[in-house]
Amino acid sequence: MPGLTAPSDYKQEPPRHPALLINSKEPFNAEPHRSALISSYVTPVDFFYKRNHGPIPIVDDIQRYSVSITGLIGNPKELYMKDIWKLPKYTVAATLQCAGNRRTAMSKTRKVKGVGWDICAIGNAVWSGAKLADVLELIGIPKSSQITPSGGKHVEFVSIDKCKEENGGPYKASIPLSQATNPEADVLLAYEMNGESLNRDHGYPLRVIVPGVIGARSVKWLDSINILAEECQGFFMQKDYKMFPPSVNWDNINWSTRRPQMDFPVQSAICSLEDVNVVKPGKITIKGYAVSGGGRGIERVDVSIDGGKSWVEASKFQKAGIPYISDSSSDKWAWVLFEAEADIPESAEIVAKAVDTAANVQPENVEVIWNLRGILNTSWHHVHVRVGRSSM
Ligand code: MTE
Repeated sequence: MPGLTAPSDYKQEPPRHPALLINSKEPFNAEPHRSALISSYVTPVDFFYKRNHGPIPIVDDIQRYSVSITGLIGNPKELYMKDIWKLPKYTVAATLQCAGNRRTAMSKTRKVKGVGWDICAIGNAVWSGAKLADVLELIGIPKSSQITPSGGKHVEFVSIDKCKEENGGPYKASIPLSQATNPEADVLLAYEMNGESLNRDHGYPLRVIVPGVIGARSVKWLDSINILAEECQGFFMQKDYKMFPPSVNWDNINWSTRRPQMDFPVQSAICSLEDVNVVKPGKITIKGYAVSGGGRGIERVDVSIDGGKSWVEASKFQKAGIPYISDSSSDKWAWVLFEAEADIPESAEIVAKAVDTAANVQPENVEVIWNLRGILNTSWHHVHVRVGRSSM
């Protein structure tokens, strides 16, 4: 691809913040400390988790960089950055969450395969770019289309990075055409993150953002868009990021029996405390994030200091100082931060669980949602806090 190249090794990786917790160095997979996530509603780029499957691509000439649009359409088209910049610019606050977030805790039940993540493979950013629905209209696919005249029903995004799982081929994924052409779904071809040009780790010069859906479908370093009759047949759609029941193991797995995961379920986690914390007896503040998929808002976050026997409701906000309610004024694709105060006279098991606007609730136990790839651990989040007289 002219303008964008994909290295085969890790000699030209971008600089990263030294405070990130590295879960795998090559490819680079890292998350921030828990405290970094609750310092602000919008996660700073430096502290936004980085999830990669190969070396980071390099732009050598932005003027020559283009996205080719091919497949079941009349005329294939090359779109340059200048064409994309000309389209109306939309800004959407959206939380991106890796399906493997909280995998380490799931692996304590039974071994799972995948990069070990604590609770911070998630971040909330303000993304700007063109709406995919506008881009597709440019090539003759009207808004709210279910199918193109030549039978296209899915929109595939292909990158350029060299991924081991694809035998050195690029990362790719697809979404249904109906979602891609729905302006309300807010699917973006984003060129900015938090008001600045995307950085290399997050997909410079152009990435897809599919709000409300697991991060795996938000393809970075976009190289081509293909209109297909079937969903993308790539590894990450067909042989990964699928949710299996606890009975399925590596000997009896049949990947074709399950659909690729799209929306993420309701999730919450406590970020102000760690299991190792020793606190003084008295008041503690319990803070964290809650989010659901598919644009569903958060109805409630319940917090317990006795392991889930009794609960109090936490306060919620997106904009500092303004109580959150899920309505047309809230950011529907973005997380909600929560806060509650409690008195703990002695060592305590702090728990959080969220309820979304469709009344979906996080499951109590990780055992019932255990799956061999360790994805979608949305079980109640527990933190054990020890009370000691000495230090914080
Ligand atoms: N796109 C490409 N080209 N290569 C990748 O490895 N990882 C995906 C997605 N898009 C990936 C990709 C996954 S699994 C996630 S969770 C998000 O990017 C992470 O995006 P981030 O690194 O900007 O947080």
